[in-house]
Amino acid sequence: MPLKLPKIIGHRGCAAYAPENTLEGIHMAADMGVEWVEFDVKLTKDEVPILFHDSTLDRTTSGTGNVADRTYKEIMELDCGSWFGESFIGIQIPTLEQAIDVLIERGLGLNLEIKPCPGREKETAEIALDLLSTIWDDHDRLLISSLQPVSLEVACDMAADWHRGLLLPEEWPENWAELVDYLQVSTVNVNANNVTRDQIESIIDKEKQILAYTVNNPDQARLLQSWGVDGFFSDCPDVLEEGIFSVH
Ligand code: G3P
Ligand code: MG
Repeated sequence: MPLKLPKIIGHRGCAAYAPENTLEGIHMAADMGVEWVEFDVKLTKDEVPILFHDSTLDRTTSGTGNVADRTYKEIMELDCGSWFGESFIGIQIPTLEQAIDVLIERGLGLNLEIKPCPGREKETAEIALDLLSTIWDDHDRLLISSLQPVSLEVACDMAADWHRGLLLPEEWPENWAELVDYLQVSTVNVNANNVTRDQIESIIDKEKQILAYTVNNPDQARLLQSWGVDGFFSDCPDVLEEGIFSVH
């Protein structure tokens, strides 16, 4: 069955309006009518899957240093909202399990991006997917993606029938087309800022759906859509919705 994707996926929850990768952001996305969200998962030192983007704590928390060096207990002591705004002071980094509970409660679909700390590509996918398999059964509204082929290989082995997405960085790996075939992905997720029309056409030739990140400008979305991009990750889904999909 082809994956039925929404046109707009809330990026890291809805990162323009709430701290990224937080329960507050997921709730806010749901409140604005978003159907799916994307968030990033990585492991604490003691292998608890948490929602977090960077390898280090410095940018978005009250802590410093590598995420991979901190235990779950240490991570829970950090504030991940103050950097973003006063109304988010004191909020905590969520576990994957907490986030899935919110998705289920709010009826949201999920693009889970496996974003391992360096060297933890295999175990991050194994632990996250193992947890998902016990609490999430709506596989028609789930996409597992990663920049790391090793993580997607784990997804192939552990959950062959779940949809996968190959994330491509600005600089595409030379073997991207082989990866698309080998990993049997449903989508190719491209960086919107530098992708070319020819590149989009090369994905269309492979008959894969195309998602572009991160698109907050309706003009950019319209252009990419005219090239054949199917959907967008956006920090401000409401702006994109209003700008390109609403009938005036
Ligand atoms: O999954 C799309 C997008 O989130 C990839 O980039 O760095 O925002 O995780 P990043
Ligand atoms: Mg991401």
